[in-house]
Amino acid sequence: MSKRTIDQVDETTNGTTTTNETTENNGTVEKKFKVSNIQEKLQSIKKELDVKPWAPEVSIQELITSLLDKNDRDAFFVADIGVIMKQWQKWKKHLPNVTPFYAVKCNPTVGILKVLEALGSSFDCASRTEIETVLNLGVDPTRIIYANPCKQISALKFARTNNVKLMTFDNVSELEKIEKFFPEAELVLRIAPDDSKALMRFGTKFGVHIDDCADLLEMAKEMNLKVVGVSFHVGSGCFDAVAYDSALTMVKKVFDMAKNLGMELKLVDVGGGFSGSNDEMFGKFTTVIREKTAELFDSSVRIIAEPGRYFAASSHTLAVTVISKRIVKLEDNRQHPRRTSNNMRQYNYYLADGVYGSFNNIQFDHAKPTPLLLKPTPKQPTPCTLFGPTCDSIDVIARDIQVPELKIGDWLYFAEMGAYTTASASSFNGFCPPPVYYYCSPVDEDQL
Ligand SMILES: Cc1ncc(COP(=O)(O)O)c(C=O)c1O
Repeated sequence: MSKRTIDQVDETTNGTTTTNETTENNGTVEKKFKVSNIQEKLQSIKKELDVKPWAPEVSIQELITSLLDKNDRDAFFVADIGVIMKQWQKWKKHLPNVTPFYAVKCNPTVGILKVLEALGSSFDCASRTEIETVLNLGVDPTRIIYANPCKQISALKFARTNNVKLMTFDNVSELEKIEKFFPEAELVLRIAPDDSKALMRFGTKFGVHIDDCADLLEMAKEMNLKVVGVSFHVGSGCFDAVAYDSALTMVKKVFDMAKNLGMELKLVDVGGGFSGSNDEMFGKFTTVIREKTAELFDSSVRIIAEPGRYFAASSHTLAVTVISKRIVKLEDNRQHPRRTSNNMRQYNYYLADGVYGSFNNIQFDHAKPTPLLLKPTPKQPTPCTLFGPTCDSIDVIARDIQVPELKIGDWLYFAEMGAYTTASASSFNGFCPPPVYYYCSPVDEDQL
């Protein structure tokens, strides 16, 4: 077996396969072992999280409705772990040589983390807590990148104690900190690419300008620190494949700078930015990444990525009930329902979850969640605003939209609510983030 094959097996099985006798010179035996190992893990996760099968003929509306009677809840998530598995299959197909390090920040829900661990994913952690969570899943420290260029000293010490060596940096004071608290760390220089083609841009906060890279590399060399590679993030919610093309060209320049300084870089981290639902865009991005990395780097260079949204976005649907309602006059927003004719009415609905909870993606992630009715109705749409449940007036989910008239106790649902929702939800005013009910839509698990 070639070295490359051993590495690939290692990455997708948490290393367990390589210690087993079946890693002899026989690809078929190896693959069977790998699949059964993954399947075993998935079976035990399904048991532990009480994951119910989701039959293809059951619609999301029917599934949510079946949960209403059983659960005395005002809001809840339906999480489909089948989505995670299908995204994994798609990743392996389009980017077979790029190791995904799932960005835990995007959604640290236990179901997502455990399934990705079972599938063999690595993890991008931004803090001590995230590192600790991932290590507690039994993940080997080599499957973690500490991808926060500005780290707390306490977290650096924690990373050192736990042998989490791979980490990003983009400034001098970070180098000084690492020299003092984790001199054996393996450093990845985060550069600032053009992130103008993304919803969430990071360039003003992170990443070193290409013109300053040589200085930083030189300083790292003087400090005897080990720089192993270069990373970038084109911005979350990227919508143009050109962003990866130009970022990779920049990375190549940094590789050449390092070479001139006598340093050999061996890792390229293409970050996140991948859509969770737009297959066409994913196809374009991955084609650029495949072709450009093959053109610029030799096969000994390891390519990794930090996808978050890609895995999490479509996995969660949020169901939420109307807890209160008021009728206001369109012109002046005042309440005089009895004197307001139907065509002058605007409804204010108050939902059981809002911007301090799962809908924080409106503030933090530029999201525009679309309400969908759980029960179809022949009623005509009327103007309304959807508020969250807290006492704050900025708790608005959607303003001046059109929805057929709702009554208290009606349910709405919102698709694509897996990315940057629960991760940053608060319990402001005592409204706790909704519980998650796990399901698994059909997946060909032999292809995992
Ligand atoms: C360093 C880093 N890596 C990866 C990600 C994940 O990005 P995305 O959700 O676009 O895949 C983020 C998002 O904030 C990030 O900051």
